[in-house]
Amino acid sequence: MTRTDAPTKERSAVRSLLRLWPYVRPVRTRLLCAAFVAVLASCLGLVIPLVLKWIVDGPVADRDPGGVWLGALYLLLLGLTEAALFGLRRWLVARPLAGVEAAMRGDLYRHLQRLPVAFHDRWPSGQLLSRGTTDLMLLRMFLAFPLTFLLVNGVTILVGFVILLQQQWSLGLVLLAPVIPLVMLCHVFESKYSLVARRSQDQVGDLTTVVEESVLGIRVIKGFGRHRSQAHAFRELSLTLRGTELTKARLLAWIWAVITALPELAVGAALVLGTVQVADGDLSAGTLVAFLSTALALRWPVESIGFLLAVSQDAATATERYFEVMDAREEAQGDTPQPKSPPPTPAPSPSTPSPSAPPRDGIVFDGVEFRYPDAHDDAPPVLAHIDLHVRPGETMALVGATGSGKTTLTTLVPRLHEVTGGRITLDGQDITAIPRERLRELVSVAFEEPTLFSASVGENVLMGAGDGDGEAALGRALDTAQAGFVHRLPQGTATQVGEQGLSLSGGQRQRLALARAVVGRPRFLVLDDPLSALDVHTEALVEAALRRVLADTTALVVAHRPSTVLLADRVALLSGGRIAAVGTHQELLHSSDEYAWLMSGTRASGAVSEKGDTA
Ligand SMILES: Nc1ncnc2c1ncn2[C@@H]1O[C@H](COP(=O)(O)OP(=O)(O)OP(=O)(O)O)[C@@H](O)[C@H]1O
Ligand SMILES: [Mg+2]
Repeated sequence: MTRTDAPTKERSAVRSLLRLWPYVRPVRTRLLCAAFVAVLASCLGLVIPLVLKWIVDGPVADRDPGGVWLGALYLLLLGLTEAALFGLRRWLVARPLAGVEAAMRGDLYRHLQRLPVAFHDRWPSGQLLSRGTTDLMLLRMFLAFPLTFLLVNGVTILVGFVILLQQQWSLGLVLLAPVIPLVMLCHVFESKYSLVARRSQDQVGDLTTVVEESVLGIRVIKGFGRHRSQAHAFRELSLTLRGTELTKARLLAWIWAVITALPELAVGAALVLGTVQVADGDLSAGTLVAFLSTALALRWPVESIGFLLAVSQDAATATERYFEVMDAREEAQGDTPQPKSPPPTPAPSPSTPSPSAPPRDGIVFDGVEFRYPDAHDDAPPVLAHIDLHVRPGETMALVGATGSGKTTLTTLVPRLHEVTGGRITLDGQDITAIPRERLRELVSVAFEEPTLFSASVGENVLMGAGDGDGEAALGRALDTAQAGFVHRLPQGTATQVGEQGLSLSGGQRQRLALARAVVGRPRFLVLDDPLSALDVHTEALVEAALRRVLADTTALVVAHRPSTVLLADRVALLSGGRIAAVGTHQELLHSSDEYAWLMSGTRASGAVSEKGDTA
């Protein structure tokens, strides 16, 4: 999936850039000082022609060598001061702007962590990566250089023209002639460039996605000998990006040529006119020298405008892309006002709670309905009318055909996705009324894909632990998950696992993920087929250990194999988006054909579809 749905309508670069203000505010004093210093330096440069005029009309005309030397000394001092001031400007902005970039990157990362899973399902990771890297770098560069110089050059041009008009207004007007066509051309340039800039930055994001996918999927690519087609796809994308960059370069070349040529023509005209005036005796030679030197000193400020506008457009696009992510709504941090829920129905629990303890009611799914946010409107919901009660301390296995929605159901409990109908309660409390952080302390999960991070084995497991848990908890969890293999790793639990834990076997990763789920001794445990990659002997050992651990925990365990189901007290059969039957393994084997078919492939009275509907 790509994300090149760039806005094709015109939008205001200034309005986009103004959104940076909250980040720039803390460093505004420094930036203003730097801009002031730069204006000062630039205006000092404009004094040089005036000194030249003084030298030509004074000491040179009077043949006074002492005066010429003095003039040269003034020029040297002016030049040195200008250089020192520009150096000071750079020093003033470097540190605060690195801080602005770091703050924006930090905020983006924090925000990404809080965005709902549905957001990450939708957005390609390369797009997010490029926004956190290339775009932010563009913004820092913009704040450091073009922002200041748009101001500095603007002021310099203004002051320069005042000096020019004051020296000889008729020549000054000749130089001012190209201003109106230039402004119009700059406007056309800006609107064209902004669209191409957006396209290019989005394409960088798409390219990043391809690189990331092919690095992560290198085993599949090699295994299927797809490196050629993968390289071809990459080349196609990078050629597209190259084309876009060339369009940018063409636009830039065009505006640069116009911005350079028009003023040069005007300077040429002023030179001819000025020479005639000097010949007629209407103008002193010194004034003409000063006039032309000032005009030439204004060359860079004028010529740079095309480049500065281009970089500002790039920055405006980067800002827009940054805030597209930042504007996405985070998961509410719990405590969301919910419609008053009816009091929980008392559970037929064997253990009656003491009056002071909170009611222990286990996990209750009450008419739960769920459809994925990007699902078609006319598609049936993945889950509909799910009613299920997992009693406190009970282990419930969830069985269903592949694609029947088991994983989806498990993600609803820790609110990785939000139910679209009905409600889920934990010990009688609606999960939407529990602050998310608390909810995720209460509920521990292990997913189908055991994801590990580039950290040590111990750190990976202890991610699931509370603050106080340490080595002892780690040891217990590793024992439970039968992950004794870690002690044979080169540095034991301190061994670093490679990116995504790919240096471990599938079963080893699964056991670490399971250890991570149980290390914090959670009240509720949700396991999505946690033992699928283990051999039956290891699975039996894990199960025996889990039984001890789960004695006090309410657990929902997705299972495909009879051996995993045997771990559970009861089994729920998910079929056709609803809970079709609940009972013990033996009961269901007898009462449900679909269950028997799923568990042993026998007694099927009909075919079972992907959704688990018995035909
Ligand atoms: N992020 C998603 N967006 C849209 N649809 C999805 C998403 N994830 C899963 N689905 C769809 O929801 C349905 C149920 O998927 P789910 O992963 O819950 O099945 P499952 O029972 O866990 O299957 P399996 O036994 O193969 O793991 C499938 O039809 C799937 O295509
Ligand atoms: Mg699944």
